[in-house]
Amino acid sequence: MDMLTPTPLMGLVTGFWSFKTFAAAVELELFTRLAGGQVITVADAEAELGLPERPADLLLAACASLGLLTRDGDGYRNSALAEEFLVKGKPYYFGGQVAYCDQRTYLPWHRIGEALRTDRPLTWDPASQESMFDTADPRMLESFWGAMYSTSIFTAKALAQHVDLGGGRRLLDVGGGSGAYPIELCRLLPDLSATVFDLPHVCEIAAGNVARAGLGDRIATAPGDFLTGEGLPAGHDVVLFSMILHDWDEATNQRLLTQAYEALPRDGRVVISELLLNADRTGPPAAALMGMNMLVETVAGRNYSDAEYAAWLRTAGFTDIETVHFDAPGANGAVIGIKR
Ligand SMILES: C[S@@+](CC[C@H](N)C(=O)[O-])C[C@H]1O[C@@H](n2cnc3c(N)ncnc32)[C@H](O)[C@@H]1O
Repeated sequence: MDMLTPTPLMGLVTGFWSFKTFAAAVELELFTRLAGGQVITVADAEAELGLPERPADLLLAACASLGLLTRDGDGYRNSALAEEFLVKGKPYYFGGQVAYCDQRTYLPWHRIGEALRTDRPLTWDPASQESMFDTADPRMLESFWGAMYSTSIFTAKALAQHVDLGGGRRLLDVGGGSGAYPIELCRLLPDLSATVFDLPHVCEIAAGNVARAGLGDRIATAPGDFLTGEGLPAGHDVVLFSMILHDWDEATNQRLLTQAYEALPRDGRVVISELLLNADRTGPPAAALMGMNMLVETVAGRNYSDAEYAAWLRTAGFTDIETVHFDAPGANGAVIGIKR
């Protein structure tokens, strides 16, 4: 019988070594420099990254060990993963999320014990803000919604491949943030048009991204606040909630799903795209740890299971509820309901 060893615990305890190595390489734009099959030796890294020999050697070896670089002769080049997702300017660039975790959440996570004891967020102060989204801080505006874009642009692609929008042509993206979902979905589905509903300062960010994507004729923005109870804009046949409901408590989520039901026509559908917990609350880690991140970043958020979402959808009036599973950074599945 195999001997039980503490080796998995060493993997857990050194997780931050992996993250900080990865984040430093992204900050140095290592993978962008290697775009298109470029090879870098330790001597090149000394010259190009301005690093002394020892750190250059250690960084390249560590990045290779993490699957970000592969060996090529006496140097290294990008792995397929790095080439696809870590080269600036590529459509599914993921560096925004790396920078956000590094610059905004990493140090607050250092005080996770405090959050566990007090049940209060660590990245902002509830005494001076309504929510983490209610901010004019330009660093937060750029970094949070940049992170959401880089997480959601690929997630939207995965969603489009796995979720039947039921022929829906008009999508309402509630809390649509950077506009990543409508941008990707409109690129993939030529008949689709969409509205991003979000706070006014966030709609400005979405409108900029939509204009840069050349989709201003198909994607509109609707500034508003979904917590006021004034309802959601009508005139759409699909209502999407992506990474919205994990920010709030059950009562708020029930109200949001009821607003979605009221805003939809007959046969309209609601799509909840999230990192879903499994039914017995044992994982997967991406969902359970995102729940911990909700402790760090929100007052009442947590990651929920598809069974919990299904129950709230039923209470709101939706039927034909199903869960579809897929693999993406911002969601491992979607829960869908129809208004009959
Ligand atoms: C975690 S982000 C998700 C963004 C986007 N759905 C995605 O998946 O990329 C949550 C979004 O909800 C928006 N939001 C928060 N409170 C809101 C409110 N009261 N009314 C409208 N939007 C809100 C935030 O501005 C933010 O864009």
